[in-house]
Amino acid sequence: MAGSDADVASRRSALVSAARRAREHAHAAFSQFKVGAALETADGTIVTGCNVENATYGLTICAERVAMFKAISEGHRAFTRIAVVADTEQPTPPCGACRQILWEFGGDLEVVLANLRQEKGVHRLKDLLPLPFDARFLQDG
Ligand code: THU
Repeated sequence: MAGSDADVASRRSALVSAARRAREHAHAAFSQFKVGAALETADGTIVTGCNVENATYGLTICAERVAMFKAISEGHRAFTRIAVVADTEQPTPPCGACRQILWEFGGDLEVVLANLRQEKGVHRLKDLLPLPFDARFLQDG
């Protein structure tokens, strides 16, 4: 969604608030590291996610991928930005696996990172995942 600077600032702020609320649902029994994410769709819908851990550890799924898979399963196909919130002084960025999934389903999203007190940075996904592999290469092979 395009908009004035004030619109964008208010949408970022709403997204960070939604991610902070989603974080409260995190199932982080093993790491105690709770993360919330909120994904804005092209029509302005907000879809949230939190990290969900399990006893095998390896099947853990991050907040960002939960948000994206929820959104896809609800029929959304175009996205503008994602907010990620964790209780760290330095902003918590998406892991490599999440960058890949966000890129494949969301393209060059705006990525807003925040802790519990304030927004800590705004990035473009293409800067966080330079030289990405995606479906275009499968057609080229
Ligand atoms: N985690 C996320 O959910 N998102 C991130 O951006 C970084 C890591 C989760 C995975 C795991 O449940 C916990 O944080 C510790 O790595």
